[in-house]
Amino acid sequence: MTQDELKQAVARAAIDYVVDGEIIGVGTGSTANFFIDELGKIKERIKGAVASSEATASRLRGHGIAVFDLNDVESISVYVDGADEIDASGAMIKGGGAALTREKIVASVSGKFVCIADGSKLVETLGTFPLPVEVIPMAAAAVTRRLAALGGQPRLRTRAGSTDAFVTDNGGYILDVAGLSIVDPVALETTINQIVGVIAVGLFAQRGADVCLLGTGEGVRTLRF
Ligand code: 5RP
Repeated sequence: MTQDELKQAVARAAIDYVVDGEIIGVGTGSTANFFIDELGKIKERIKGAVASSEATASRLRGHGIAVFDLNDVESISVYVDGADEIDASGAMIKGGGAALTREKIVASVSGKFVCIADGSKLVETLGTFPLPVEVIPMAAAAVTRRLAALGGQPRLRTRAGSTDAFVTDNGGYILDVAGLSIVDPVALETTINQIVGVIAVGLFAQRGADVCLLGTGEGVRTLRF
């Protein structure tokens, strides 16, 4: 099976977690996009969705799914999103698609986080994938120094084919931090959150996944945390 077929398989499996009549939280990225396409097929079963990025909002609307502002929603039962890495405790690195801050916000108000990922995303120790950190633009250099002092090699994310900084939906910059072997994700999440100028860190450990649907050649594996 190709990686896309594995992503499609977990996206289909995640439909089982959709609660009829409710508003669902929807993540960002290629796996989340497959999920949105599946959601489009059952859209009359749900009230609508809260999106974790402008790209996701636009894809949801393209399927005729109502997109709600989080400020108008009291609670979300289920949030479905991909991951760049996930470990055996359900802690994740996210933000490859630059949507980490809104993903974290929607996940924080959701009862259940359902991670959908192809099998390559399951790792023993987080950190091979460079850790995305969203920062206030004027603090980029200062935060870079602080992250380097923690042992990482931060690099400003640029727009494809350009040397200009990539700008997120929130007007932030992203520092991708390579070289971290993250043995204590909860502690590192706290440490990076405390750096002034950081908007959010792409470590989802304090609020990790509750379930991970992992696409493998042998079918979809369900990991519960
Ligand atoms: C976006 C994310 C994505 O969930 C993560 O990058 C995985 O993406 P994909 O499903 O394309 O592999 O965190 O900010």
